[in-house]
Amino acid sequence: MTELAKQLVITNAILTWHKQHGRHGLPWQAYSHAYPVWLSEIMLQQTQVATVIPYFERFMHRFPTVQTLAAAPVDEVLHLWTGLGYYARARNLHKTAQQVVELHSGEFPKTMDHMLALPGIGKSTAGAILAFSTKQRHAILDGNVKRVLARVYGVEGWYGVRAVADKLWALAEANTPDKHVDTYTQAIMDFGATHCSRKRAKCKQCPLQKQCVAWQTNRVDELPHGKPKKHKPVKATQMLFIESADKEILLVRNPPTGIWGGLWCPPQIEDGALKQNDELEIMGLSLIITKVHDDYRHTFSHYHLDISPLSAHLADKAKTLTDAPDQVWYKRDQPQAIGLAAPVKKLMAQLK
Ligand code: ADE
Ligand code: SF4
Repeated sequence: MTELAKQLVITNAILTWHKQHGRHGLPWQAYSHAYPVWLSEIMLQQTQVATVIPYFERFMHRFPTVQTLAAAPVDEVLHLWTGLGYYARARNLHKTAQQVVELHSGEFPKTMDHMLALPGIGKSTAGAILAFSTKQRHAILDGNVKRVLARVYGVEGWYGVRAVADKLWALAEANTPDKHVDTYTQAIMDFGATHCSRKRAKCKQCPLQKQCVAWQTNRVDELPHGKPKKHKPVKATQMLFIESADKEILLVRNPPTGIWGGLWCPPQIEDGALKQNDELEIMGLSLIITKVHDDYRHTFSHYHLDISPLSAHLADKAKTLTDAPDQVWYKRDQPQAIGLAAPVKKLMAQLK
């Protein structure tokens, strides 16, 4: 199948899906002129449909025209916006209404460039407003559409990278049909929001299964890629679980500053290479390593710590611990009231 044929199949499948499963009868769909379309699109930028509905209705009731909105004190606009969040949207809403009245005689502009010059209107929102209110052919690329396109076309990489954004915009343009652009715009938004959702995509009942690269390659949960995580370095430590004849475990208290400050841990050997049956002396004790357990990874904010837990017994059976204050034989059956580092607690339970 050519790329063009594939795009047609996908676009038509989304339009067909929308007839039956799209969100119809939303309050702003009763309007086609630009003011309510714009108002709803701004509200919907960062807020879900169900939350927006009553706010949209209150705004339309109080400010039925762009002139009434422009003439209102900004405090009243902010007051009515309360609860929708991202208040910069409300300030920009008010500014835009004033600019439309002052610069465009109260009519929303009908070109992309003029639309983009208004506060709070980016390329995707401008495309949606123009598609809904003028039926001009413009692509949109909001969060829902990005997700659908990244999955269906298997687009790798994070949107914050220029080349990835360009690729997604090119796909958005290519998939936007010449006819019924308003219906398609609503359809792909709805498809992303309710069908190809972030966490619960309904792939098993999806009309795009055959075309969808993410589904075909089992990467629905991976795509779209988010911002890459900062690489965390990995450190390694061997942790000695030294057991006395009475089944107690030797713990030492960490210095008050640094990781696990003031908490109690088994003695550790950073980057240690001890193996089963090795013998060593530590804190005046003679030990023999009885077992090397699987690594356990504990993640701090700035690095991963791969803990290699070692079981060790006292070679001479005698507990000859000095009476230093920061050392203790920990009784696992009647534990002393002391603070254990989280992974120590976990490992202690596992190794029992
Ligand atoms: N999100 C942004 N615009 C929307 C619209 N018109 N309908 C539903 N969700 C949306
Ligand atoms: Fe989205 Fe799954 Fe359908 Fe692909 S198959 S478009 S991931 S719902």
